[in-house]
Amino acid sequence: MTSSTPARISIFGLGYVGCVSATNLAAAGNTVIGVELVPEKVDAINSGSVPLFEPGLAELAALQVEEKRLSATADTTAGILATDISFVCVGTPSLPSEKIDLSAIEAVCRDIGKAIAQKETRHVVIIRSTVLPGTCDRCVEVIAEASGKSCPEDFAVVSNPEFLREGTALKDYEHPPFTVVGASRPEDAQIVGDLYAHIDAPLFLTDLRTAETIKYACNLFHATKVCFANEIGRICKSLEVDSHAVMEIFCADDKLNLSPYYLKPGYAFGGSCLPKDLRAIMALSREHHVALPMLERILESNRQQVELAIKTVLATGKQKIGMLGFSFKPDTDDLRESPHVALAEALIGRGKKVMIFDPHIQTSRLMGSNRKFIDEKISHVSELMVGSLDEVIESSECIVIGNKDAHYEGILDRVREDQIVIDLVRIDKERTSADGYHGLSW
Ligand SMILES: NC(=O)c1ccc[n+]([C@@H]2O[C@H](COP(=O)([O-])OP(=O)(O)OC[C@H]3O[C@@H](n4cnc5c(N)ncnc54)[C@H](O)[C@@H]3O)[C@@H](O)[C@H]2O)c1
Repeated sequence: MTSSTPARISIFGLGYVGCVSATNLAAAGNTVIGVELVPEKVDAINSGSVPLFEPGLAELAALQVEEKRLSATADTTAGILATDISFVCVGTPSLPSEKIDLSAIEAVCRDIGKAIAQKETRHVVIIRSTVLPGTCDRCVEVIAEASGKSCPEDFAVVSNPEFLREGTALKDYEHPPFTVVGASRPEDAQIVGDLYAHIDAPLFLTDLRTAETIKYACNLFHATKVCFANEIGRICKSLEVDSHAVMEIFCADDKLNLSPYYLKPGYAFGGSCLPKDLRAIMALSREHHVALPMLERILESNRQQVELAIKTVLATGKQKIGMLGFSFKPDTDDLRESPHVALAEALIGRGKKVMIFDPHIQTSRLMGSNRKFIDEKISHVSELMVGSLDEVIESSECIVIGNKDAHYEGILDRVREDQIVIDLVRIDKERTSADGYHGLSW
């Protein structure tokens, strides 16, 4: 488990993350100095133990101390002068206001900056703590101010969030789901990537803010999954259904359930199933006096995504709006509860001239509940439909891309400079909002 070129590393903060990182980086052959404010924690490491319980950690740390690859100090300057790379692993707790407390991060960066002022060689500072997007940029400012030195010439700040779980931290360190390294320059990201060369996990090198944000996306998803399973459990129990049997089979679906499907920021959901099924379970939960606050808010969140699309179109100030896609997803003519219908309805209500192209919809052929839905919402729908994509490109001032139907491929290369595009689905994943192109949530 040794890394290819041993590095000289200081670790700031010997809590859970710091101790696990320090021990494992030493075990990989690097020389590691822990820097910690609490003297008892420094003494614990230097006497060959760790200041916390984590299965297997004390034994591994003792071996590293014995072999002189791991030591600790309270002296920041000594830690920095003896190393080339620093990991910042201090706490980032909540303030009473619920905002993140970054005071320990700022204090460490200031200390590191003062010490770097005395160095002749370049130093790389890795933020391992969980920090909000933009924090690493702030760390650059603090270090530059305290050191009088410049980034990237004299030092770099890199983001490398930690994904371990207490209780299984050693196993998680050796087998993480992935390693994420964010930096302003790829060569700095690679310096950190190389420290994990011996770890068999996908390595993602990205920019600072993406790396910082990924950690939050992961933790918010974990929290959401726990509450989802518990809310399914609560409704199951009230119905005398075995929730574990339900969730075991649920988890066997790796096509739609445990998969990237439905996990791309885009437009609202709709169609003949999801909205009505949510309503049915909510009504049932009320009858059974079962609180499902997370599921209860889903339709509202979905409604707000439609509202955002409406506001984005209205903000363009354009009159003639061309919509590409009208059904709730490509390759169907099902209009029931399509969020595109809601968008068209709102725009018409605001006096906009709307034209719609959807290759799969022929209004004369709509029948049954599908016909009834659209007649109730937009009775003159056939007057809004046009027969070709060319007509939309020709006549609209603002084009709304509603799905990824193959007919719309290359559309972004065909729009004129005077036209505004609002993309609800990110038809081209390389495009970000700029110059007449607006992604709904990117
Ligand atoms: N604990 C986890 O399972 C876990 C997992 C992933 C990420 N994280 C994140 O990692 C960060 C650290 O978490 P933790 O649980 O290890 O925290 P912790 O509170 O256990 O340890 C932080 C340590 O930093 C020390 N410290 C504070 N200011 C210092 C300074 N100026 N100089 C030197 N040392 C200083 C503290 O004394 C403490 O020992 C947090 O941002 C947390 O959100 C934690």
